[in-house]
Amino acid sequence: MSSDATPAVRCTGIRHSFGEKVAVDGVDLEIAAGTVFGLLGPNGAGKTTTIRMITTLLPVKTGTIEVHGLDVTRRKMAVRRLIGYVPQQLSADSALSGRQNVALFARLFDVPRKARDEQVDSVLAAVGLLDDAGRPAGEYSGGMIRRLELAQALVSSPRLLILDEPTIGLDPVARTTVWERIEGIRAETGMTVLVTTHYMDEAEQYCERVALMHRGRIRAQGTPAELEAGLGPESTLDDVFRAVTGDQLEETSGGMRGVRATRRTARRLG
Ligand SMILES: Nc1ncnc2c1ncn2[C@@H]1O[C@H](COP(=O)(O)OP(=O)(O)OP(=O)(O)O)[C@@H](O)[C@H]1O
Ligand SMILES: [Mg+2]
Repeated sequence: MSSDATPAVRCTGIRHSFGEKVAVDGVDLEIAAGTVFGLLGPNGAGKTTTIRMITTLLPVKTGTIEVHGLDVTRRKMAVRRLIGYVPQQLSADSALSGRQNVALFARLFDVPRKARDEQVDSVLAAVGLLDDAGRPAGEYSGGMIRRLELAQALVSSPRLLILDEPTIGLDPVARTTVWERIEGIRAETGMTVLVTTHYMDEAEQYCERVALMHRGRIRAQGTPAELEAGLGPESTLDDVFRAVTGDQLEETSGGMRGVRATRRTARRLG
């Protein structure tokens, strides 16, 4: 049913409102299988809401979403089995050890019992946490926590890995490490990666295609080079971001919420 020609994700005309607030306002999106796709945009643009719809965590009331050809509404459980998800809010349990955190996800995502221990250790090794796997996650640094969450998302061998700001609050070296792990695993497995980030340099370096979202809509889409060329010679992705969002970041209602979420993250990482 799904070959490589079937996109990993296809969103058609999706909308989502929270009460009066229109968070996603008619988004069309197609992500080719095996690629790294970046969803960019300011605080409150609607990125997380879009991702939560793709992961089946929010209902799709308007429009349709298919993951590897499966409709997310009608084939919810089958879709969930294809996806690994690292949410924006930190999700590791600080009282459990790194290994226990990953094992919990292995159970939740139906990794066959016989394969579980081996699979847990294999992803812990892939993210470079094998030596620290016995320590409580509460003792981990921010970068280690993000890598642990990556291991949680990878333990079910997903075809589609979705990362909501995987490198927020990390130092430059830790950011590079997270990306190198993602790249390494992707090269090995051919999985698709959908990522949101506020770091334009990351998008430029690691994403084959990007979509720029603002106020619930996709305002620009293409390879980073295409978007930059579209704006003029010597433009950077930062310039494209500014051109699309009009420099009015704090006007969006998500502004304060975004700042608060970042502070919360910083406190937990601190
Ligand atoms: N659970 C919710 N209840 C009410 N409004 C919400 C909820 N979640 C998101 N919103 C609103 O929907 C809009 C889009 O939010 P969303 O979290 O999707 O943005 P985002 O692009 O992920 O932003 P950020 O970069 O800050 O993470 C914002 O205006 C936000 O306030
Ligand atoms: Mg978000």
